[in-house]
Amino acid sequence: MSGEKLAIIGLPALALIMLVVGFVAAPAADVDPEIDADQPFDKELAGAYVKAGCWQCHSVSTLKTELAETFGAEAAGVRPLGPDLAGVGERYHPQWHEAHFWQPDAIYHGSQMPAQRQLFTREAQPKLTEQGKDVIAFLMTLKAPSGINKPWPEGPHTAPEGNANQGAVLFMRECTGCHGVQGMGVGPAARFFKSLRKPPAFASDQLIFLQVADTKLDSIYTMITNGVPGSAMPGFGNRLTDQERADLAAYVAKLGGYD
Ligand code: HEC
Ligand code: HEC
Repeated sequence: MSGEKLAIIGLPALALIMLVVGFVAAPAADVDPEIDADQPFDKELAGAYVKAGCWQCHSVSTLKTELAETFGAEAAGVRPLGPDLAGVGERYHPQWHEAHFWQPDAIYHGSQMPAQRQLFTREAQPKLTEQGKDVIAFLMTLKAPSGINKPWPEGPHTAPEGNANQGAVLFMRECTGCHGVQGMGVGPAARFFKSLRKPPAFASDQLIFLQVADTKLDSIYTMITNGVPGSAMPGFGNRLTDQERADLAAYVAKLGGYD
């Protein structure tokens, strides 16, 4: 493990306090007004979100009143098809959002969210439009947690016994959009991570092993569970079972020759 790399990647990560997460969608109407905490409201950025129609599937429980009063009752969310977005500003990197808007199911298995291509320019190398940038800027302001979402998992974790063959199947389903079919870090979403570390090639010595747990295997398992804070790598702790993440960790360890 390289001390330099730890300094570059580990310290900003430590500085980040991961507050909340969850994928439990709940209707805006069920939200307890008490949780309307210290959530700043930027009218202009919120306007871009409303104009993009995100409210058709999402709520922002911490801004329910502001959205409804400024843009009409529907803007607070009409159908609980997608998750409540309160706290999402602590959960993902802006470049994750960009990749997600371009092709949600490439980085989020089985996503029901339609691609948001209207937020990109029509060029050979599409870029976010000004509206697209504003929508993401709005999402990044959503730092205050709500009681609706499950807290984002925090480490360290100890990996249960995993099965690398099962892990290979899960890897194809959940991870290839970024890490690529061979785990070499060249999935279709990787091009969105412009200023970030790209997904590492597992079958090489590129693994960094943030010392997030006691052993290499536990570190891999912990990173899969919590994500790598401040990077495009999301946590899977609320989406996959302990066993599934252990199988994935066993497979990644095998690719890297650490099993
Ligand atoms: C037709 C319904 C629909 C629309 C419209 C929609 N989404 Fe989604 N969205 C979903 C669903 C379902 C999910 C859960 C699966 C996923 O993350 O892809 C989701 C997930 C998300 C997530 C991840 C949340 C988390 O906690 O993991 C974000 C962020 C998000 N959407 C933002 C937006 C934004 C911003 C817009 C508008 C530009 C938008 N969505 C439009 C249905 C929708
Ligand atoms: C949205 C893109 C994305 C998805 C989906 C994704 N990863 Fe990652 N992953 C990354 C990026 C980017 C990094 C590099 C993070 C950093 O250190 O800055 C990474 C890092 C990692 C690391 C740490 C490697 C190291 O060198 O420290 C592991 C382990 C990992 N991913 C496993 C997985 C597994 C298993 C899956 C599927 C369950 C997955 N990832 C899904 C983007 C992704």
